[in-house]
Amino acid sequence: MNIEPFGVEQWMNAWETKCDLNLAETCVASLTLAELMQMAGTTQQMPSDLAAMKMTYGEIRGSSRLRGLVAGMFADQTAENVLITHGTIGANHMVYQTLVGTGDHVVAITPTYQQHTAIPRSLGAEVTEVALSEDQDWLPDWDAVAAAVRPATKVIALTNPNNPTGALIDREGLQRVAEIAASVGAWVLCDEVYRGTEQAVAVPSIVDVYDKGISTGSTSKAFSLAGLRLGWIIGPEPLLDACEIHRDYTTISVGIVDDYFAAMALEAKDVVLQRSREITRGNLDVLKKWIATEPKASFVAPKAGTTAFVSLDVPMSSYDLCVALLRDTGVMFTPGSALGVEGYVRVGFACHPDVLKEGLSKVSDWLAKQG
Ligand SMILES: Cc1ncc(COP(=O)(O)O)c(C=O)c1O
Repeated sequence: MNIEPFGVEQWMNAWETKCDLNLAETCVASLTLAELMQMAGTTQQMPSDLAAMKMTYGEIRGSSRLRGLVAGMFADQTAENVLITHGTIGANHMVYQTLVGTGDHVVAITPTYQQHTAIPRSLGAEVTEVALSEDQDWLPDWDAVAAAVRPATKVIALTNPNNPTGALIDREGLQRVAEIAASVGAWVLCDEVYRGTEQAVAVPSIVDVYDKGISTGSTSKAFSLAGLRLGWIIGPEPLLDACEIHRDYTTISVGIVDDYFAAMALEAKDVVLQRSREITRGNLDVLKKWIATEPKASFVAPKAGTTAFVSLDVPMSSYDLCVALLRDTGVMFTPGSALGVEGYVRVGFACHPDVLKEGLSKVSDWLAKQG
């Protein structure tokens, strides 16, 4: 199976360990296990139920405890609607493997996580990309989406909240995409990995709006626990049964230690998400103030998520700009070209506030020296 290289992952792999100030990261500043246990009110150094855990494969779909907790984050779902996966990346991959093949058609709203275009293409599907634009605050043009669907459309794919722009589609928009999908009997796969990072109001999940809606997500971003590699697919049971056929060949089960800590995090979700909100909301204020005073930078402020798509008035490609910035200052952004959009850099703003402030100040000094 041929598949194109994953632009963002290659960029991250090349530079992540070489930069001084990482403003390319998309996870809310990661927690240690000790911090998680403290937030969950665990006083033992090694919880006795963890120490006593037999290292079997565990419950194959994911523990009932975890699946119940995941379901509880949606309006109208039960543990039967939850399949535990290796991160959102595993969840998305499994959904495409299950639903898409040669001759099928997929509509992907871009920019997005490259999985949503590259995997269906690699499976032999034709992918129509419907581009977001800054002029429309990075929100989809629903008429363009309606014009893109056809009887062969199997999936409409979107990322909400959006990576890289931080735009947030509201209930009305989700209802609109559901209507468009229903007109051709398509699924809507909504990558909701950034759910829980909203700046003000939260929006519903696609699974609570559309009966052929599929949500993917994980503990990586708002829960600050990417190291668990723990995600999920939420959808109708027959879809999950079909996914499980593929999952049996690739996953068997996820690690039961990961499952255990994910359940702990979801049980303590009020505390964990409160910390995340403080970081993302406080840091977005810092970024907004920087943009307001930095003559060479502009953006549409994110409504959610952990990244902003920033335009910098420097006569270089986004890739050359990011490499020069890294070499001269140690600050790491992500070039828009790695996400298929030239003319922007993606700024991750969910890191430690001091890293963001120091990074932006170095960028200002650097920008002042550019022609
Ligand atoms: C939109 C989107 N989907 C999926 C992923 C993969 O996340 P996970 O760590 O849950 O596999 C990412 C990671 O950056 C992402 O931005």
